[in-house]
Amino acid sequence: MYLLAGILALIAVASNAYHELQAHDGSLMVTVINLIAIGGLCMPAWRAVRERRKYRRQREAAVARARESDTSLQTLLEQLPCSVVALDPSFTVRRVNRQVEKMTGFSAAEVLGRKCYAFFGSGRICDNCPVERALATGEVQQNVKQERTAAGQELFIEQTAIPMVGKGGEIRHVLEIVFDATRKVTLERENRDVFVQTVGALASLIDSRDTATGRHSVAVRDIALRIGRQLGLSPEVIEEISIAALLHDIGKIGVAEAILNKPGRLTEEEYAVIRRHPEIGYNTLAVVKPLAKIAGYILSHHERFDGTGYPHGQKGEEIPLVARILCVADVYEAITADRVYRPAISVPEAVRIMHAGRGTMFDPAVLDAFFADLGRSNGEAADAIASLAALPGEKPGSGRGDAAH
Ligand SMILES: [Fe+2]
Repeated sequence: MYLLAGILALIAVASNAYHELQAHDGSLMVTVINLIAIGGLCMPAWRAVRERRKYRRQREAAVARARESDTSLQTLLEQLPCSVVALDPSFTVRRVNRQVEKMTGFSAAEVLGRKCYAFFGSGRICDNCPVERALATGEVQQNVKQERTAAGQELFIEQTAIPMVGKGGEIRHVLEIVFDATRKVTLERENRDVFVQTVGALASLIDSRDTATGRHSVAVRDIALRIGRQLGLSPEVIEEISIAALLHDIGKIGVAEAILNKPGRLTEEEYAVIRRHPEIGYNTLAVVKPLAKIAGYILSHHERFDGTGYPHGQKGEEIPLVARILCVADVYEAITADRVYRPAISVPEAVRIMHAGRGTMFDPAVLDAFFADLGRSNGEAADAIASLAALPGEKPGSGRGDAAH
């Protein structure tokens, strides 16, 4: 349109000039050419002006849209019931909502433009930081951790880090959504404490029926935990070992004390009654949902590695690892403690008996872990373990059918 107007204006000017200049001299053609030349020079300038105006309008529209979008995004963030922090790849805080100040006590002015760990954390990128993992993997990451507010109050936060990917595939920001999980974690801990105390009370009840030692379950737990740590098992499995060890003989609550504490040799019938305690324990605990897995370990704690144990004759790795650990801890504790039917066996003799059951009663790997730990803490045991190679094999638990029952 500008181009057309320019051409028309140029023609009009050139036409007038032609009429005005025609009567005076013979330079008409030169003048017309000059005017056309001037018009030709002006057209690019008009085009540039037009382009600049167009660009300015587009830019103003884009800025307006961005402001509108930005306002909408911030409005959205302010409506969320959780803290939201947008971080760039250098962990610098670029945007927060009001919940951040409400939760942490740090105002937007205090945190914007600063590294998140400079005001919230230890001054360096936190261990297991979900933002760091989101940047590394490009995937959503989560974490629960303990933090301190600006006022020094402890709180637990549940973090979800969402990587925001740009058009080129690069991660431009990480959106960290943070919930205050203090109440939830506190309740879980209280429930856990109640659970542990209940298990402890049950263990005391079980041990109270053992007139000889009164602390067999606790002692088995301590040995089993050391084996588990020696094997490098996860905290979750260590926790299972602890509970399973404390409750491993819970089925004995269903066995008459006259049989449990009988000084002399058991009859076949009495021994058959005692052999039912893993199944009684299993049936008791399997109906309690948090203990269903533990019940399985308890069921198998008298199985033997070679398949000659009870109640089902499980063999090798058919027997759960926790049950194989319980077996080693249970037998060692039983033979090194005074019983109503015999005095305690010395540590060197106990080591020899345990070694005789390597690969038959006991999982060799579990027994080796037990000896490795025992040898570090007990010099007498260390000497006995060192001399094992020269000893002939021997069946453990002689004289009563089973050293631990
Ligand atoms: Fe048992």
